[in-house]
Amino acid sequence: MCGIIGYTGPQRCLPILIDGLRRMEYRGYDSAGVAIINGKGVVVKKDVGKIAALEALVDADPPHGTIGIAHTRWATHGEPSQINSHPHLDCRGHFAVVHNGIIENNESLRETLKAKGHKFRSETDTEVLSHLIEEYWDGSLEKAVAAALRLVEGTYGIAVVSDLDPDKVVGARKGSPLVVGVGNGENFIASDVSAMLAHTKQVVYLGDEEMVILTPRGYRTQTLNEIPVDREIEEITWELSQIEKGGFPHFMLKEIFEQPKCIQNAIRGRLMEQTGEAHLGGLNLTDDELRSVERIVMLACGTSWHAAMIGEYMLEEYCRIPVEVEYASEFRYRNPVIGPNDLVIVISQSGETADTLAAMREAQRRGARALGICNTVGSTIAREADGGIYIHAGPEIGVASTKAFTSQVAVLAVFTLHLAHVRGMNPEVNQELIHELKAIPAKIERILKSDAQIVEIAKMFQKTTNCLYLGRGYNFPVALEGALKLKEISYVHAEGYPAAEMKHGPIALIDEKMPVVFLCTRDSAYDKVLNNMSEVRARRGRIIAIATEGDESVRERADQVIWIPHTIDPLVPLLSVVPLQLLSYHVATLRGCNVDQPRNLAKSVTVE
Ligand code: M6R
Repeated sequence: MCGIIGYTGPQRCLPILIDGLRRMEYRGYDSAGVAIINGKGVVVKKDVGKIAALEALVDADPPHGTIGIAHTRWATHGEPSQINSHPHLDCRGHFAVVHNGIIENNESLRETLKAKGHKFRSETDTEVLSHLIEEYWDGSLEKAVAAALRLVEGTYGIAVVSDLDPDKVVGARKGSPLVVGVGNGENFIASDVSAMLAHTKQVVYLGDEEMVILTPRGYRTQTLNEIPVDREIEEITWELSQIEKGGFPHFMLKEIFEQPKCIQNAIRGRLMEQTGEAHLGGLNLTDDELRSVERIVMLACGTSWHAAMIGEYMLEEYCRIPVEVEYASEFRYRNPVIGPNDLVIVISQSGETADTLAAMREAQRRGARALGICNTVGSTIAREADGGIYIHAGPEIGVASTKAFTSQVAVLAVFTLHLAHVRGMNPEVNQELIHELKAIPAKIERILKSDAQIVEIAKMFQKTTNCLYLGRGYNFPVALEGALKLKEISYVHAEGYPAAEMKHGPIALIDEKMPVVFLCTRDSAYDKVLNNMSEVRARRGRIIAIATEGDESVRERADQVIWIPHTIDPLVPLLSVVPLQLLSYHVATLRGCNVDQPRNLAKSVTVE
C-alpha cells in the first residue's frame, strides 16, 4: 500500500526521500511524489508511474531544501494520475500533505470546505486535509493539523510540511502505521522502518490518534487534543542487508532461499527435546489460563489464513481442542459467537492488515483474549494483542509471502507443542515433533537444490492459462497456497482443491491441456491421493507431483515429479510448499511478470 517518508535535518532531503521511497517500492504503488520546503515556498513534484519517473522529473529541475515529505500512492479515491498523486496542497500552496488510509467523511468535509470557498484540484479524499489545515491555520502547524484531524473519520497515517512553519514535519496516525526515526541532529518519519533503516535504527512507534512534531533538534509526541504522550525509543534489530537483494534477481527468490535460516530463527531457544516442552515468552497466559481455553479461533487473510488452517489441523490433532479458522474480513462483518472462554489467534506477517486488525479488535471487544503471530516487530497487531509470538523471519519484501508462511507454520507447531504439554498430552509424541521440526531446515536445503529442475518444469508450463492444485489433509492448505502463489505473481488462473473433492466438480476441467499439481507425499492421505492421481491420468491431465523421495508409484503416474524428503504429517507443509513457491516464481519470471511487485497488489493491505 502507500508509503510515507519525511525528513527534517541539515542534509539535502531529496536523495533521502527518494531512497526511502525506493525501499518501500515493494509495498505496491501507482504514483509517487515529493514536497520540499526550499526557503521560498513549498515545491511539489509528483507523477503517475514508478519512482524512476519521479526521479526524471526532479532531475530536470531539482528542488533544494532540507525539510520534506514524500509518498508512493496506491489508488483508492480517484484513478492513478498526476493530479491525484500525493502530496496535496491547499488553495494557496502553503501546506503539503501525504496520507495513507481512507478519510470516510471526505465528501461532507469537501462540501463544507467548498462552501467556504476552497478550490479542489484532485478527486482524492486526502486533499480535504490540506484545505482543513489551511482553514485552521493560526500560526502553528501542529495546532492546525490537530484541529483538522479532530474532524476526520476514517484511517490515516499522514505527514505534513509548510513553508509558514518551516523547520517542522508533523505526523499523525490512526489505523495506518507511522514510525518516527530518531537521528543525530536530524529526524525522520515513515510508514515503514525499512524507509529509514539506512539512517537510524532508533525508532518510536506512534499509537492511534497520536501526533508527532519533528524538528532537526528533536521530536515530541501528543494526542490530537494536544496532551503530551511519552513513547519509548526502540532499537530495530534488522540489518540493512536484510532489505537488499543480496545477489538474487528478486526479493522473492532470496526469501525462498532464506527459509532454512528463518525456520531456525523461528524455533531457536523455544524447544526442549528431552522433556517435549516448548517455551514461548510473550504469551501472557498462565498454564491454568491455557488449560481453561475451550476453543481457539484463528483469524487471518491470504497466505496467513493458509498457515492458520495448518495450525488448526495441528492443534486439533495434538491438543484435542476445537479450532475454527476464519477469514478476518468475514469475521468482523457477521455476528460471531465469541467470548471469554475462547482464545483468538491472529496471524499476520505485516501486523498491519486492516481486516485482521479490525477482527482482532472485535474479538477483544467481545471478551476474548487475542494472541498475535506477527513478523513485523512493533506493528499494530503485535502491540494491541494481549500476548504474542514473533516469527523472526526478518523483513519480507516480496509481495508474495514465502518465508513468512513457513515461519508462521513453524511457530504454530511450537505453540501446539506448548499447549499439548500444558494440557498433559503424551510427551513422546511431542518429542517426536520437536525432533522432526529441528530437522526441517536441512531438508528444505535439499529441496532448494531442485531449483534447476523446477526451472525446466516451469518452461513446460509457462504458457498455461489454468492450473489445478490438489492435496489432502495437511497438504490441502498447501494446495491453496500453491494456487495463490501462482495466480498472484504470474496472473495464471489457479485453483486449490481438496484432492477428494475433485470428483464433485473440478474433474470436468481435466483434459490433455490441464496441468494438475498433486501434493502426494507419504502421509496418512497418501493412498487416496494416489487414486485421485490415477483418475486425472485416465483423463489425460498433465500431472506435476510433489512426492516423497524414491516413491515409484508416483513416478509411474506423474509427468513430472519434484522430490521432497520425508517428515511427519504436520510438518509436511514446511517442505511441500517450497517447490510450489519456486514453480510460481519461475513461471512468473518466464512470463515476464514483475514478481516482487505484481499488478494491483500491495504488501500490506491497510484498507478494507
Ligand atoms: O501481512 P498479512 O500476513 O496480514 O497479509 C495477509 C495477506 O494480505 C497476504 O498473505 C497476501 O495474501 C499475500 N500477497 C500472499 O502472498
